[in-house]
Amino acid sequence: MHTRVEPAATGILLAAEYLRAGEPVAFPTETVYGLGADARRDNAVRKIYAAKGRPSGNPLIVHIADPADARPTVGFTAHWSGLAEKLAKRFWPGPLTLIVPRGPRLSELVSGGRHTVALRCPRHPVADAILRTFAGPLAAPSANRSGFTSPTTAAHVRAELDGRIPLIIDGGACHIGLESTVVDLSGAVPTVLRPGAVTVEMLRDAIGDVQLGMTTVRTQDSAASPGQHARHYAPHTPAYRFARAQWAAAQNFAQRFEPVALLSFADDLHLPAPHETFRLSADQTEYARSLYAAMRDADAKNLRAILVLLPDSHAGLWAAIADRLQRATEPLPP
Ligand code: TXA
Ligand code: MG
Repeated sequence: MHTRVEPAATGILLAAEYLRAGEPVAFPTETVYGLGADARRDNAVRKIYAAKGRPSGNPLIVHIADPADARPTVGFTAHWSGLAEKLAKRFWPGPLTLIVPRGPRLSELVSGGRHTVALRCPRHPVADAILRTFAGPLAAPSANRSGFTSPTTAAHVRAELDGRIPLIIDGGACHIGLESTVVDLSGAVPTVLRPGAVTVEMLRDAIGDVQLGMTTVRTQDSAASPGQHARHYAPHTPAYRFARAQWAAAQNFAQRFEPVALLSFADDLHLPAPHETFRLSADQTEYARSLYAAMRDADAKNLRAILVLLPDSHAGLWAAIADRLQRATEPLPP
């Protein structure tokens, strides 16, 4: 299959045409690029799973154009609670995904066998234009091969899915750079399954009681949200994380496994050639925006390992950054 890449300026109508024909299309959102398809049609949704190589039990996020579309998309009014409405009012359009009980209007495949569905209203002019022109709900996981790093540019999507999907809409680099916050509203207490740019602090400020449910589970175990699998968002090169206090051990590791890539936001940590140092910002917003691109650049060097310095803060967006690093890397071996 030939994969077309079209600029957003001319690609919106074309995207809607492909989507109406039941084909998947990759497009930018404010978080990462998504691979969208009609969420009401089994055959369209199946093509997403096939292109990504995604296990069918891992459910997809359904994207809607307008917060007001949530109720009709879910299908049963009772499934869209006051709490969901409150969060949608405060954070939509934006990087927040809400898991609520599902109704009959969507393909069962988007739920991966669950009684719930994940909904999100993205805040990105291209995603918005595609959703409005298509005029229906789009199932859209991140546009990468299952288990690997999410794409934040059209070139990243192409590197992952060239020949596997018909169309990529290029809308430039995503400005958040990490996947949306996932909050499960189907249980007694709202539970964060994946931290993101809508932080736990922001959620607590909006609705009070919120619990954290993003305990990492081993890859073989079943998870509440498959993004919780230990190995996820990962580069191909073996990647290891270390805290600043382990810098001596990291240097020692680098000496034994020369050459390695170092991903660091600390100006004073540096590995001499033949190692390669990838400098990330110490500012959480900048760091999040460039992390996945840096991971890909480091991966592309085909070095023997990637070493990543862990942030020491877990406040705000650092919680989401630490979460993704936890899943993309192993602890530094002793
Ligand atoms: O920022 C984002 O959310 C991006 C953009 C494209 O919108 N999408 C994205 O989708 O990251 P994906 O499929 O890569 O991640 C969705 C996460 C997965 O961890 C999935 O298991 C979880 O949300 N999820 C989806 N539906 C769920 C459900 N009904 N119950 C529990 N977890 C669910
Ligand atoms: Mg993903």
